[in-house]
Amino acid sequence: MSRHMNKQSRFDIPKRPRRLRQSESIRELVEEVWVTPNDLIQPLFILPGKAESSEVSSMPGIFRKNLENTLKECEELLTLGVKAIAPFPQIDPVHKTENGCYALNEDCFLYEALRRIKKEFPELLIFSDLALDPYTTHGHDGVINKNGDVDNDATVEILGKMAVMTASTGVDFVAPSDMMDGRVGHIRSVLDQSGNEKTGILSYCVKYASAYYGPFRDAVGSKKSGSYVSKSSYQMNPASTMDILREVELDESEGADIIMVKPAGAYLDVIKMVSDNTLLPVAAYQVSGEYAQIYAAAQNGWLDLDDCIKESLIAIKRSGAQLILSYFSKYYAQNLFPYRK
Ligand code: PBG
Repeated sequence: MSRHMNKQSRFDIPKRPRRLRQSESIRELVEEVWVTPNDLIQPLFILPGKAESSEVSSMPGIFRKNLENTLKECEELLTLGVKAIAPFPQIDPVHKTENGCYALNEDCFLYEALRRIKKEFPELLIFSDLALDPYTTHGHDGVINKNGDVDNDATVEILGKMAVMTASTGVDFVAPSDMMDGRVGHIRSVLDQSGNEKTGILSYCVKYASAYYGPFRDAVGSKKSGSYVSKSSYQMNPASTMDILREVELDESEGADIIMVKPAGAYLDVIKMVSDNTLLPVAAYQVSGEYAQIYAAAQNGWLDLDDCIKESLIAIKRSGAQLILSYFSKYYAQNLFPYRK
């Protein structure tokens, strides 16, 4: 009886999607989305001098490191096939000011660090952040004028100078993450005027005012003591969509080489919209809060760490991002690639 039942289907269902899911071999044969270390950029937090490594408390497994230890990290990343980094400095509070002028000080350890990394590992791509938040006492990405506003044009001028100083260290890309108007165009023009036409711009093009940046602000110390810094007068409103393609159009016309959407996981629709409407490569930033969310749940035994990392990165890639900045990059290359299922 049961043999007879097996011989013919009980229902007339000629189209059975499960046929292409019945073994790992067929699933892999028809799948279309892969994440490889070639897609990944590892953000790094750099400390001055000989400061000891310290773990970011809201990002277990992620350490701020001094230059020597950062160089070791870079070597490991390259060995694992991760060929790009996005370094962020943690600036000593004694150097922080209202106008963030330490960002334009040649003595700032970041410039020396970038130079050394590039010298020792020329093949490692460096995407160097341009923004004032690590350098300002208030944690804003720009200077504040007498009305208490973040002053757009004064900030753009500083960013231009920072871009030229950063480019002179040999980095491959500058990555303005401030969301001031017109900064991509200004940065492109000062880079070109200073003979840095080969330095690219990865623009934080569609960047939301997001609560998911919390752990990052712990990591670089840009959280104003005790209070939440609202960046909503320059970062984008998660509840608006009409400005997305306007930002894309501006950054394209101003000369960005790569445009980024940030955060990633809660904005997959935005990544899709951007990638459907641009000819530029699209990057997405799986930000600190996304890392913290997955990691904390895994530590509690509530989610499987490896499976969640894989699934979250696949989702970001599937939505249209070719490049992903992720704090999981190194872990992924080390433990999850080639795919271990
Ligand atoms: C600031 C900057 C931020 C991040 C990257 N660059 C934070 C912010 O805008 O306050 C966040 C990255 C992360 O959360 O991982 N220019």
